Amino acid sequence: MNRHAAPDEGGIRHVAIIMDGNGRWAEQRGLPRLRGHHAGVERVRQIVEACPGLGIRTLTLYAFSTENWRRSAEEVGGLMALFRRYIRSEAARLKDEGVRLRFIGDHGRLDSRLRQLMGWMEEETASGTVLDLVVALSYGGRDEIVRASRRMAEAVAAGRIAPAQIDAALLADMLDTAPLPDPDLVIRTSGECRLSNFLLWQAAYAELAFTDTLWPDFTVNEFAEILAKVRCRERRFGAVPARLVRS
Ligand code: FPP
Repeated sequence: MNRHAAPDEGGIRHVAIIMDGNGRWAEQRGLPRLRGHHAGVERVRQIVEACPGLGIRTLTLYAFSTENWRRSAEEVGGLMALFRRYIRSEAARLKDEGVRLRFIGDHGRLDSRLRQLMGWMEEETASGTVLDLVVALSYGGRDEIVRASRRMAEAVAAGRIAPAQIDAALLADMLDTAPLPDPDLVIRTSGECRLSNFLLWQAAYAELAFTDTLWPDFTVNEFAEILAKVRCRERRFGAVPARLVRS
């Protein structure tokens, strides 16, 4: 089966989330921005835990974008420390719960301690079959497509593939997300209605849901409500609804 083809039924199995609003949450409380990110981690725990019960098999979280490197050194350093702490503190629990953790993005700019932990965590949880948890770290959709294009150009230059063999399926196989299905739904919190360079290729047919709730206030209840609403929508993938097709 082609994992990247439009599915022929409206099941929501892969949800991708742009966890926005941590900074505003903290500012509203007169707290430093990092406190918002700390509160955001608690929500990550709760949403991850709820996924299997809500029928979600893959959850992709936008944790740090290629653009986020432009933030202050203090915030970037604080976020990196938070990611390290999350991996150390969650490793055992995620493994026990059958969660397989994967990271996507360009990890060349991440510090070596974090990269080591990420590699260790991916190996530790590799046998998990309940939920694929994908964390996008130093990730940008355009950057991912550029890196994939470079890989294809290298394969052509080395004579491993002919230019005529390049098609959508081959490009999808060169992306960081190659082993994963495309997202069925992208949720963004905090009232912004943009994709902000997240899963640009993979979200081609995804349903989109936006909520004003800031990420640290995003509850499992609201997540379940969004899923219920979206599951009622009809996904057509460019085709005509079956009831309108004349036999
Ligand atoms: C966007 O809010 C959020 C981020 C840049 C960081 C997201 C990170 C977490 C939720 C922490 C942990 C994640 C994992 C996977 C352990 P913002 O800072 O842009 O908020 P603002 O738009 O209100 O300023």
